[in-house]
Amino acid sequence: MSHPLEATNLNHEAAAREAVAILSARRPGPVQVAIVLGSGLGLVADMVQDPVRVPYGELPGFPVSAVSGHAGTAVLGLLGGVPVIVFAGRAHYYEHGNPAAMRVPLETARRLGCDTLLLTNAAGSTRPEVGPGSVIAISDHIDFSGLNPLIGEPTDARFVNLVDAYDPRLRAHLVAAARKIGFALPEGVYMWFSGPSFETPAEIRMARMLGADAVGMSTVPEVILARFLGLKVAALSTITNFAAGMVEEGPSHTETKQVAAKVADRLAALIEAFLAERAAGAYSEG
Ligand code: HPA
Repeated sequence: MSHPLEATNLNHEAAAREAVAILSARRPGPVQVAIVLGSGLGLVADMVQDPVRVPYGELPGFPVSAVSGHAGTAVLGLLGGVPVIVFAGRAHYYEHGNPAAMRVPLETARRLGCDTLLLTNAAGSTRPEVGPGSVIAISDHIDFSGLNPLIGEPTDARFVNLVDAYDPRLRAHLVAAARKIGFALPEGVYMWFSGPSFETPAEIRMARMLGADAVGMSTVPEVILARFLGLKVAALSTITNFAAGMVEEGPSHTETKQVAAKVADRLAALIEAFLAERAAGAYSEG
């Protein structure tokens, strides 16, 4: 049996080309924005108008995720009038040990014409004042896993600059969109732990000391891949719990899914408003 790392990394370009052919045959025309949905946020995919749904299993190189709460369907269509591809379901490093597990979907998005990637996730908060049910815009990250999806990438393109990896203009659009629909959107630093076990209270104390506002098990490798591919990135965390040690009860996957599902309609509204802000911003700049 081949190692999953080989399967995803070696043939990613051919796989992405083939996925583009399959997706464009089902819904022709360029796509502008790709959206990755995190745990329990699948409802956002239901807001897509004129949807064409393609299960990951039909797309070469796409990860088949077995994590409950992660569906595994690519949805093409319109959201807020903008042609999008929604990836409902992501693969995590902790499933197979491959930090580049989302490479083919992201490369496919790029080849379909996307210039913007909006990532969403569920995360634990290290801040007592930002509780479950909050949404934050990620402003920067700390790769505490020490892993990198570009290890083994052969050319100098691998030395990706991550200053402003979370595009400041897109972040401003997120904040403006949240204000328009009536809620505050704090910004924060996200720290990537590999998982799948949750953090210890000591690790969370460390994370807070090092400047992390939220902790989670995804997103960072996708940001690195996206910057490598030339995609602009915006990212939102749905806070599903206080991080380990902050409250009596520790975090759980059940709680993560439940809280994320409750916030999903607000998140969907925010994403639609964000797309409108982004489009208006593009027009005003000519
Ligand atoms: N830690 C890591 N990942 C998470 C958490 C958490 O507390 N909550 C949701 N995803």
